[in-house]
Amino acid sequence: MHQRGILVTGGAGYIGSHVALMLSEAGEQVVVLDNLSTGFRDAVLNSTFVQGDVADRELVSGLIRTYDIDTVMHFAAHTIVPESVADPLKYYRNNTCATRTLLECCRDAAVKHFVFSSSAQVYGICGDGLAREEAPAAPLNPYGASKLMSEWMLRDLSAASGLRHVALRYFNVAGSDPQGRLGQSTREATLLIKVACEVALGKRPELTIFGTDYPTPDGTGVRDYIHVTDLAVAHVRALDYLRDGGPSGTYNAGYGRGFSVREVVAAVERALGAKLPLREAARRAGDPPRLIAMNDAIRRTLGWKPELDNLDIIVRTSLNWERRIKP
Ligand code: UD1
Repeated sequence: MHQRGILVTGGAGYIGSHVALMLSEAGEQVVVLDNLSTGFRDAVLNSTFVQGDVADRELVSGLIRTYDIDTVMHFAAHTIVPESVADPLKYYRNNTCATRTLLECCRDAAVKHFVFSSSAQVYGICGDGLAREEAPAAPLNPYGASKLMSEWMLRDLSAASGLRHVALRYFNVAGSDPQGRLGQSTREATLLIKVACEVALGKRPELTIFGTDYPTPDGTGVRDYIHVTDLAVAHVRALDYLRDGGPSGTYNAGYGRGFSVREVVAAVERALGAKLPLREAARRAGDPPRLIAMNDAIRRTLGWKPELDNLDIIVRTSLNWERRIKP
């Protein structure tokens, strides 16, 4: 039987590459579109690779036709919060406007399913630190706003056309492929677990703890760290759900529990067998004390069951990958 294709934008990036590999291993026909601005060609394993931009209408329409695409998974985006504050139009162009062009191509070609990488950043600050999908979205920065605007375009296009979508709001993604084939290679990383692993291996001199006076048990920020492989599985569940005819929806992708910065540091020290050089500093602007996903909806509706909900596994796989890549 003829097999229709899945277009994975940003499939040379950290999360997209894990999802593309999982899909191709499941026998799907995967086409990765990535402009390699932050992605890596060698992160694309077992998939067709096309270098190019999501905002290139002719290219995207041609790919949809050539590979008979009926599903798009859209990861391509800029993701650095402080950069989005300094250069908001870059984020609205590359995240929001490019997504609009992609959606237009999808509508014109009657693409059926769309899975979108959204972010917990759309929530801004949640009163009790527990994010529920139905809470009003109030992003605090252009990155979060650019993602929320894409969610709204998807919502409205799904209402007006035959397209159905799932938007996944990622919490703090970390870890790497347990088989060691892929990981996070991002340059000048800012995310805690990646930075801590770089410090562990001497690629950076020390880890700065931003804020030790939060109203949390040990005074440091608490986040919901989710293993990238479990997140990739959530995308596969979303695809199954859409193929089964499920209606469009937006779901948190997190484990529903949190760890503090100090707990993360302790896990890295356990994995390393040595202490990390630490420095305590003031809070980073815009960081909430605690952000944790309510995840009953994704479990119930998409049938997602996490299998790697273990901080030691998350840290160990991150550290393994960090050992493999050059400084
Ligand atoms: C990050 C991203 C956000 C994304 C979210 C979910 C930024 C600023 N935020 O959020 O866009 O949507 O993940 O995937 O890019 N910390 C330190 N020292 C460090 C780094 C971090 O103490 O060197 C602390 C932070 O203050 C925070 C926690 O560690 O309490 C996690 O920070 P980080 O890994 O940067 O992620 P978030 O800011 O939560």
